[in-house]
Amino acid sequence: MAETIAFPPGFVWGAATASYQIEGAVDEDGRGESIWDRFSHTPSKVANGDTGDVACDHYHRWREDIALMGQLGLDAYRFSIAWPRVVPTGQVPVNHLGLDFYDRLVDGLLEAGITPWATLYHWDLPQALQDAGGWPARDTVEAFLIYADAVTRRLGDRVTNWITFNEPWVASIIGHLWGVHAPGLTDLSAALATSHHLLLAHGLAVPLIRANSPGAQVGITLNLAPGVPDNPADESSVAAARSFDGYMNRWFLDPIAGRGYPEDMLAIYGDAAPDVREGDLAAIAAPTDFLGVNYYFPAHVSAATEGLMPFTMAMGEPGGESLTAMGWTVEPDSLEDILLRLTREYDAKPIYITENGAAYDDPDPVDGRVADPERIAYYDGHLRACARAIAAGADLRGYFAWSLMDNFDWSEGYSKRFGITHVNYETQERTIKDSGLWYRDQIAANVMPSG
Ligand code: FCB
Repeated sequence: MAETIAFPPGFVWGAATASYQIEGAVDEDGRGESIWDRFSHTPSKVANGDTGDVACDHYHRWREDIALMGQLGLDAYRFSIAWPRVVPTGQVPVNHLGLDFYDRLVDGLLEAGITPWATLYHWDLPQALQDAGGWPARDTVEAFLIYADAVTRRLGDRVTNWITFNEPWVASIIGHLWGVHAPGLTDLSAALATSHHLLLAHGLAVPLIRANSPGAQVGITLNLAPGVPDNPADESSVAAARSFDGYMNRWFLDPIAGRGYPEDMLAIYGDAAPDVREGDLAAIAAPTDFLGVNYYFPAHVSAATEGLMPFTMAMGEPGGESLTAMGWTVEPDSLEDILLRLTREYDAKPIYITENGAAYDDPDPVDGRVADPERIAYYDGHLRACARAIAAGADLRGYFAWSLMDNFDWSEGYSKRFGITHVNYETQERTIKDSGLWYRDQIAANVMPSG
């Protein structure tokens, strides 16, 4: 029999979603408009003109979805709270009907024995706050604290696992520099101001959440990706990879760890660097209880001689590794590298993988079955990488598959399916894919082959 590695006792097995990607019901119970409503309704921003208006209709089908989680044997469910349901205009008053939804959801989860993990910000900023300047404006930090206070006062007696922000790199860079996500800006200083304000809002929210939610575990989720130099023998390629690492990883990891913003990146960003005021860095470095890591793929980096950054990155190609439907390479070793680096260089503990998964062009269900062997292989490879990292000393305490079900994948709309459950968007029927059944068995076994 093959050697196996047991995941530590109490290892948290979960699946994740986010509000705008699954809820629908965008006009119900007083919900306000978010930047993703505005963006997805702007022609040519999202594939096929898709919007989150209906999505997976989870706002109405949450009971069925909790039952689905039960069938999968999940210990925990990571979801996000829609700010525009809670504070529709971005300013008080708070909309209690919006909070009622999450109240019901949380009670339903607890009744089913599933631990709620709530993310406060998974990208759906109220449009009214965008109109007032959005994340590039420092006032948005204050607005976030009002929202975070309302949510954690209401749910903090029952939700004890809180994630402040999901992927500040994506929200700042893809939303404010690349223009590919809401609000669709293409301005480096706006992007960097956003990153600073997201981190500041995170740091200031930590003590507030602790005060409202006794015994809470509070953390932030970063999306991390190693920058692999295209040509490790070439110095300029290695330097480019180092800059990529600053742009993607260290820009967030360092200030959270109390080291401030990396000097090499401040030099590269020059005048576009954010306005950091007295006390900001201390606030950002507020001690947290865990680090959330979202990992999908590494970047292959080469040196650039023109453009804003001294590097170019490719998400797909070299080496002929297999690609997902997103064109992302499948390289589980990079996940192991990240976990060990966080342990070695940042003393990060505990760590939770708050998202990991893959999109594939799945077949439609046939007789209640969806065959998705590539996704099983993806999960199998990445969970083995987790097991190796744990064996080598990483304090990894849990893993959330992305995603519980197919959903609205931002600028890709419904064209990319990441679920371990298939969703028929016409009938809203859910069908657990083969990967979901595999994951259920994995959860029950709690071990992994050591190879
Ligand atoms: C991450 C997002 C998540 C999902 C996956 C595929 O960047 O956090 O909402 O879209 O990518």
